[in-house]
This record gives sequence, C-alpha cells and structure tokens, in this order.
Amino acid sequence: MGVKLGILGLGTVGTGTVQLLQDSAGRHPLLQEIEIYRVGVRSLDKPRAVELSTEVLTTDLESIVNDPAVDIVVEVMGGLEPARSLILKALSNGKHVVTANKAAIARFGAEIFTTANQAGVYVMLEAAVGGGIPVIQPLKQSLSVNRIHTVTGIVNGTTNYILTRMQTEGSNFDDVLADAQRLGYAEADPTADVDGLDAADKIAILASLGFGGRINLQDVYTEGIRQVSKTDIAYAEKLGFVIKLLAIAKRDTPSSPLSVRVHPTLVPQAHPLASINGVYNAILVEGEPIGQVMFFGPGAGAGATASAVTSDILNLVAVLKTNTAVANPLLTCGHQEYCQIAPMAELITRFYARFLTNDQPGVIGKLGTCFGNYGVSLESIVQTGFQGELAEIVVVTHDVREGNFRQALAEIRDLEAIESIPSLLRVL
Ligand code: NAP
Ligand code: HSE
Repeated sequence: MGVKLGILGLGTVGTGTVQLLQDSAGRHPLLQEIEIYRVGVRSLDKPRAVELSTEVLTTDLESIVNDPAVDIVVEVMGGLEPARSLILKALSNGKHVVTANKAAIARFGAEIFTTANQAGVYVMLEAAVGGGIPVIQPLKQSLSVNRIHTVTGIVNGTTNYILTRMQTEGSNFDDVLADAQRLGYAEADPTADVDGLDAADKIAILASLGFGGRINLQDVYTEGIRQVSKTDIAYAEKLGFVIKLLAIAKRDTPSSPLSVRVHPTLVPQAHPLASINGVYNAILVEGEPIGQVMFFGPGAGAGATASAVTSDILNLVAVLKTNTAVANPLLTCGHQEYCQIAPMAELITRFYARFLTNDQPGVIGKLGTCFGNYGVSLESIVQTGFQGELAEIVVVTHDVREGNFRQALAEIRDLEAIESIPSLLRVL
C-alpha cells in the first residue's frame, strides 16, 4: 500500500519536492512507495514547472487536511494563517505533518506539538532551519547525548549574501540590498531577513532542540543588519574580523539561563564561521563531550530544501511501515517547560564601538576613564582617521557585562568631546 501525501503549496519548495519525488531512480527505494495524492495551491491557472493531473491540484486546502486517505500532510505554503490552522487540523485528524515553516513553528510550536502528541503523530521540520542542511535531526538524535553549550549559526542566506558583497566590494548596505532584490536574492519586502526576524525564528527552534525546552520568541533579542556600514566592515577587517549576522544560543551550565540572540557580530577571521560566504548557511554546535561540530550547506533553494522536506517524508514513511502505536521519543517533542532566558544586560561579551569626537587632547583618556569607572577593560583603542573635522576612534573591549558597557556608554555620550557613537557591535 502506498503512502499518500497531501502537499499544501506548490511554490519554490513544493515544486522542488514534487520534482524530487517524481524522479526517484537512484534515490532511497522507499520513495517509490509515496503517492502525490493532493496538492493545494492558491491558483489553478498559474503555469507550473511540474506535471500533475487535474484531480491532484486543488484550491481547497481544508479538503486535503480532512481527507481520510491522506497519510502525511506536507505544509510548504508558508505564512502564519491559514498554515497554522491547517497544520493543527491535519494533526487532529491523525496525520503526520512535515513543514518548512519556521515562522509558524517558532510562534505556534507549543500548540502544534501538544496537538501532535495528543493525536499520536509526528511533526517534522528539517527544512525549517538551514534549508538543505541536516541540523534538526542531528540535534534531536545524533547529538542529543551531549550537553550542548552553544549553537551559533549563520542561518539567513539573504543577509549573509548582502554582508559578503559589502565586504568584498566595499559597498553600502542600501546599494547591495537594491541589487540583491533585482537579482532575486532578497525579497521585495526584505524585513524578515534584514531585520533578523527570520534568523530569530530559526535560533528559537535550534535553541529549543539543543537545550530541551520551549522558547518564547519575544525573549529572543533581535537586531538586523541595516545599521552595518561599509566603514565598520573596513575597520573590522583591519582589526582581523569579518562582520556576520549570527544567531546564538548559549548556556554556560545546565542550570544557568539561556542567552538567545541575533545580531551582527565581529567574527575573528580564523573562526570557522568567518569563511561562510554568500547565500550559504552554517551552524556550529558546541557540546560536551563532542567538542565542535559544524554543519554547512545551502540554506535555501528548491532542490536543497526539497532534500530536507523529502527526508522528513521518508522518515514518516518508515514510521508508517513499522505500524507501531508506540511513540518514538526521538521523533516527538515532549518539551513542556519554557527555557529561562537571561536578560541582555547580563550577557558577557566583547564589544566594538566607533566614536566620532572633536579632535582635542585627552579624549582617548576620558573614554578610557569612563569605561574604567564601570569595570570595562579595553583590548584596543585606536584613533583611526577623520570624518571631516571629527576624529574617529575605534574601541574593542575585553569580555564585559553588557549592562556595565551600556552604563559606561551613557556617561561617554554626555562627554562634551563626543559628537556621536555611530556603531556598536558585539564581538565573538
Ligand atoms: P512560495 O514560493 O511563495 O510558495 C507558496 C505556495 O503556497 C504557492 O504554491 C502558493 O500557491 C501556495 N499558497 C500560499 N498561501 C496559500 C493559500 N492561502 N491557499 C492556497 N495556497 C497557498 O513559498 P516557498 O518559498 O516555497 O516557501 C514555502 C515555505 O518553505 C515557507 O514557510 C518558507 O519559509 C519555507 N522555506 C523556503 C525556503 C526557500 O528556499 N524558498 C527554504 C527554507 C524554508 P500559488 O502557487 O497558487 O500561488
Ligand atoms: N529568507 C531565508 C534566507 C530563506 O534568506 O535564508 C530560507 O529560510
């Protein structure tokens, strides 16, 4: 008996998935047991890159999740609603669900997994983070015996593409964004990518898996890349860093609160994440006893994402074939508790700051004194050049408590010699 799929969405990911399933030779033999039974779309008139019979395509997505013949629902339509309601209905109707929808999982994961557990079915989401990169299953299974300390990712291809081009071409953010939009690397509305929201959804999911608890998305500190300037990229390079949008989840000890955040970060040039360029994604997992493991690959695109979606489908086909009523604890999500998230003021990190000051004697001394008043120790302080009449001073701190650093900055802002503080970035 074949396994019947109901696919919600036939866009980039849906089309890639159908193409992969329709071309199964040389792949896992279980793929041949899968039937593309229904595919839900918005418009029946749109030209499609795949051939499907007219009985398969429908605009009635409710009918797919309510159809008793459908075994697995593959949600690749995106967005919050009706995706959330359709996923919940499919689960309540006893269907396993595969989804690529990080936005829905990051916001509604609690009710989605509770519904799945109650119905005795699984929700699989390999494609939701890192596109084609296998990272969800490794965190759930292969790495789950480790005590995870840190998950650090470049999980948004659009912003990595923009930052890479700014770095290599010395261009402005606005110019590269406009060009990326023209070339199709950035959406017409780039907000979710460039403001870090997409990366926040993804690190919330990775943190939940890595640290074994639910994450409240509102607790994820999120800063995007709009304020990253070519000036800072050039200074960072001189100091031995590249600037990357990092999504970080970190816990010092099993009993300490988690730090979960997304922000542009100066990454030492020798760090494994520093060389991840263009649209590529990478996720570095650090744990005990394994040490460091890095996952690298294409974070988006039809084929890559279809690979992740289809591997989830395959796992579920295997589950259906074994026909056991006992839930597999490595596939379910049993987290009930929310992780405690540390406030950003408690974060211990290095900072990079750029100051524009009047060119007068003693400014560097005053800066140093203000930082010293709050226990902020400086790794380097250099007057690097001028912008018009104003001197430009760049500071890199040692590890400091973010709250102390901010207090020092408040005092520095009041110094007469300080014209402005155009940039503040964290350093890995
Ligand atoms: P997409 O190209 O915009 O395709 C969306 C598909 O869903 C279209 O076929 C559309 O129908 C259908 N659809 C959307 N809303 C609908 C509604 N209300 N009723 C009926 N059909 C509806 O999206 P995508 O890029 O494939 O992304 C899908 C999901 O995968 C998203 O959650 C995204 O975040 C995730 N994802 C995407 C990538 C990637 O590389 N694109 C990578 C990782 C994860 P029509 O075709 O008729 O318009
Ligand atoms: N907008 C996402 C990115 C697509 O740029 O990485 C994959 O989630």
